[in-house]
Amino acid sequence: MKTVLVATEKPFAKGAVESIKKIITDAGFKFQLLEKYSSKEDLLKAVAEANALIIRSDIVDRDVVAAAPNLEIVVRAGAGYDNIDLSACSERKIVAMNTPGQNANAVAELVFGMLIYKIRNQFDGSTGTELRGKTMGIYGYGYIGRLVAQIAHGFGMEVAAYDPFVDKNLMDKDGVKWIDSVQHLFSSNQYVSLHIPANEQTKKSVGFELLSVMPQGACLINTARKEVIDEDGLLQMFEKRPDFIYVADVAPDNAAIIAEKYAGRFYFTPKKCGAQTHEANNNAGLAAARQIVDFFVKGDKTFQVNKF
Ligand code: 3PG
Repeated sequence: MKTVLVATEKPFAKGAVESIKKIITDAGFKFQLLEKYSSKEDLLKAVAEANALIIRSDIVDRDVVAAAPNLEIVVRAGAGYDNIDLSACSERKIVAMNTPGQNANAVAELVFGMLIYKIRNQFDGSTGTELRGKTMGIYGYGYIGRLVAQIAHGFGMEVAAYDPFVDKNLMDKDGVKWIDSVQHLFSSNQYVSLHIPANEQTKKSVGFELLSVMPQGACLINTARKEVIDEDGLLQMFEKRPDFIYVADVAPDNAAIIAEKYAGRFYFTPKKCGAQTHEANNNAGLAAARQIVDFFVKGDKTFQVNKF
């Protein structure tokens, strides 16, 4: 019998866990759960029997792969799979998947939640600003980027996007202005929302050079990954542009310096919570469970992200 382990340091909502369990056990597999673990050791022990693994932002590195001799598939219930060592998986012919789009709406809504909270001065009663008529630049036009565009349109914003992998026709259809370069995206939009993955090309790619060309009243919204930011460049931007504000779903490593020197110009979630809604937990968690069942029963590898 195949064993499916759900290993989530940040747990899914209880209802989602029950539904995942039902999908797994109805398919005739054994269900195991490791939640809120506090050390890597716990994860290493838990994966010992697993044939399949469902994770969120949990780190699946070489050690985890080595500790899981029976592992055949790991599914990241979510979008970004930068937490999985794909080479280590491929060497062992372990299929790695994500569940694209399943938690996108939760993240897109958080963009505006954090943004409004900040531009209304954390609701402290002082005079803030509005979104209507302002420009929103979307960097990365995937599932989340498209939803951010829809919501921004609802607020009466002008929306533009840059994504070298997306056809201009799609943006035209969505009423989104197609932008030809990342520099142009930053120079022509007061608000820029990041929806790029963290990979070798993008890590530390958003720094002072890009940020400094943003118009007056610049605001960067980061619900992607802290790793895509060049933190020295970010500090430089705070220093040189007193108008600049930064909101992010999870603080940068230099958050303490920012807090000390630039109070009132940032907001960071205390724990990454972009995908932390009941809906997103259900959508992503259940999709992951179904993908595992389809993989074992039918050999379906539709959402595989590694090659071997
Ligand atoms: C994702 O990549 O899907 C999001 O960053 C959500 O991450 P989480 O599952 O850790 O909340």
